[in-house]
Amino acid sequence: MHKVLVVYGTRPEAIKMAPVVSALSRSEYLIPIVAITGQHRQMLDQVNKLFEITPSHDLDIITPRQRLEDITSKALVGVCDIIDAEAPDAVLVQGDTTTCFAASLAAFYRKVPLFHLEAGLRTGERYNPFPEEINRRLTSQLTSLHLAPTPTSRANLLAERVDPSSVVVTGNTVIDALREVVARDLPVNDTGAARAFGGRMVLVTAHRRESWGEPMAQTARALARLAEKFPDVKFLVPAHLNPIVREVLLPPIVGFDNVVITDPLFYDDFSRAIAECTLVLTDSGGVQEEAPSLGKPVLVMRETTERPEAVQAGTVRLVGTDEQTIVDSVSELLTDENAYAEMARAVNPYGDGHAARRAVASMEHFFGFGPGPEEFSPAAAAALD
Ligand code: UD1
Ligand code: UDP
Repeated sequence: MHKVLVVYGTRPEAIKMAPVVSALSRSEYLIPIVAITGQHRQMLDQVNKLFEITPSHDLDIITPRQRLEDITSKALVGVCDIIDAEAPDAVLVQGDTTTCFAASLAAFYRKVPLFHLEAGLRTGERYNPFPEEINRRLTSQLTSLHLAPTPTSRANLLAERVDPSSVVVTGNTVIDALREVVARDLPVNDTGAARAFGGRMVLVTAHRRESWGEPMAQTARALARLAEKFPDVKFLVPAHLNPIVREVLLPPIVGFDNVVITDPLFYDDFSRAIAECTLVLTDSGGVQEEAPSLGKPVLVMRETTERPEAVQAGTVRLVGTDEQTIVDSVSELLTDENAYAEMARAVNPYGDGHAARRAVASMEHFFGFGPGPEEFSPAAAAALD
């Protein structure tokens, strides 16, 4: 058996790795060893609990208001030590967090092949999103097997002269995770969130570093104006635990009867919130992938996106962080039935629920076991839906 050291540290990485850990543990040739950096704590533990993953290693690096250099340096040394202890045959990382980049560098320092899940996303702008665009570009430089979610992400890698034989289009494992929790149909954990269910509802999340300060203050003021303008609509805000986000985002929106502020929701509750909502207002990467597959319009509070597929399909629109633009864009979707209907269509450009199986088949093939998978094709997935 070949050992794959699976390293992650934040909520979205955990959600997207969970289906792969499960598929790896069913492999005849590979075994997963799960190591978490603990870049997140409560938000990461929630996901591990939901998917019943017990990590073998936990670096527990989180500190309040942690700086990028704290995360990078602690995760780099910690993952090198775990590699020394476990002697894995490969290291698997996901996405574009600082955990992802630091673990990739650790694999390189120890000359262990690196597999990158969700490879090839790009905005082309080094500070947007910050620091993720550079984290993922640096990770690509260190990767031996690029697991690209879509044909667009593969094209991005090939444009950077990555060896085409090292790239496989798998679909995004977030769709595997989403389908799995929706099918479980668990009872609601967070009764606070359930207060927002039942009528028209806007689901809101915000956390991006490049929006800290004034851009996020504009979002908060826009939400306050929208809550006043649409008293019949609920605004559900599961607030990220970062104090830097909460200090700016929450004060203008507390005290409204129709604004429901909660702690981060368990993933099954959050998926239900997407399914229940009228529209999503977010700066999240993962939510841009999930909501289109549940047929919900997404307004993205960013200037750029590395996920152009759903924008092209017409169900995701970039609105930036300008207060007036956010008010106007949300108002349009809440008042203009035609504009709403145009965006509220289920599309699946990101996956068909079989990405983890393809990722594991690609890893097995890397070591000489099996032929590798049939690649994910968004057109074939759309035809089946
Ligand atoms: C991180 C990732 C970002 C990803 C996001 C997903 C980096 C640099 N950033 O950003 O790419 O989109 O996760 O949410 O890798 N905190 C807690 N408990 C938690 C999680 C966070 O208290 O479970 C607080 C801590 O005070 C922590 C702060 O939030 O210092 C910020 O966490 P950090 O991981 O540095 O940044 P995120 O904005 O969460
Ligand atoms: N999510 C969750 N609970 C919440 C908010 C988000 O489980 O309260 C999930 C969401 O469904 C998505 C992921 O967390 O899969 C996105 O995480 P985040 O927005 O923090 O990070 P990003 O995707 O922007 O890196």
